[in-house]
Parts: sequence; structure tokens; C-alpha cells
Amino acid sequence: MDRKEFIKVCSGTCLGLIGISLLNQSCTATHYVQSTVSNNNLSVAKTEFTITKKGQTDFRKYIIVKSETLEFPIVVYRLSANSYQAMLMRCSHQGIELSVNGDILSCSAHGSEFSKQGAVIQGPADQPLKSFSVTEDENNIYIKLS
Ligand code: FES
Repeated sequence: MDRKEFIKVCSGTCLGLIGISLLNQSCTATHYVQSTVSNNNLSVAKTEFTITKKGQTDFRKYIIVKSETLEFPIVVYRLSANSYQAMLMRCSHQGIELSVNGDILSCSAHGSEFSKQGAVIQGPADQPLKSFSVTEDENNIYIKLS
């Protein structure tokens, strides 16, 4: 293989890897929903969890709900067709906003991690996340804020 051929093969491979990486990121991108508070509830359409690709319906594991009245977003996990877990994305250690990585919520400040049920997996946090009760009807879920 001469130098020109080597560079051509390497460039093609690099472009392919970048393309796969971007495609993978778009499939797992976090879905944000803006909601407003009404009667102390945040309402979210169940369709926010739905992904339709090539006629196939799938569901997002979680969505992140934001509202102008909330200091921190709320992550809502879809545990099953009629079971949801909603938690404030505020670290119980010193109040830093958490990030969601699949089934784990992590804090960049001191490394605490929480499960999708809000339990502490790794400290220094020693308290679970604030969670909210969630009710539903046919089309929506309702996150009760207090
Ligand atoms: S503020 Fe999150 S671990 Fe300290």
C-alpha cells in the first residue's frame, strides 16, 4: 500500500466512525419537554415518551421536564406502560444539578450517583432524591409538585 492509498483508506475509516458516532448520539439524545404548572401539577403528554421509526413504536426510558417555575428540571422515567418515577434533578448533597446517564443520575461536583428510583448508589450524598407522585389518565401524566 503506497502513501496515497493509505491516507485514502484512513480518511474513509475516520469519516465512517464519525458518522456512526453522530448517528448513535441522535438515537440516544435526551428529550426535553417544557411544561407549565396548573393546580400544582405539571402535565406531560404520554406521547412525549413515544418514538416512531419506520412504522415501529418504541418508548424513551426517560424524559426531562422543565418549567419556568422550577429551579431544577425533573426527570421522569417510564418504568412500564402505567408506572412512572419523577424526581427533582437536584443533588441531595449540596444542591448541584444532576445529569442523567441512562439509569443513573450523576453529580459532577463530588461524584454522587443515584438510581432511577432516586436511591443513593454512591456518596457523599446520603439522602435519596426528592421524588414526586405521578398520576395519569389516558393521554397525560401529572406530576404533583407537593
Ligand atoms: S453536590 Fe452532588 S455530590 Fe456534592
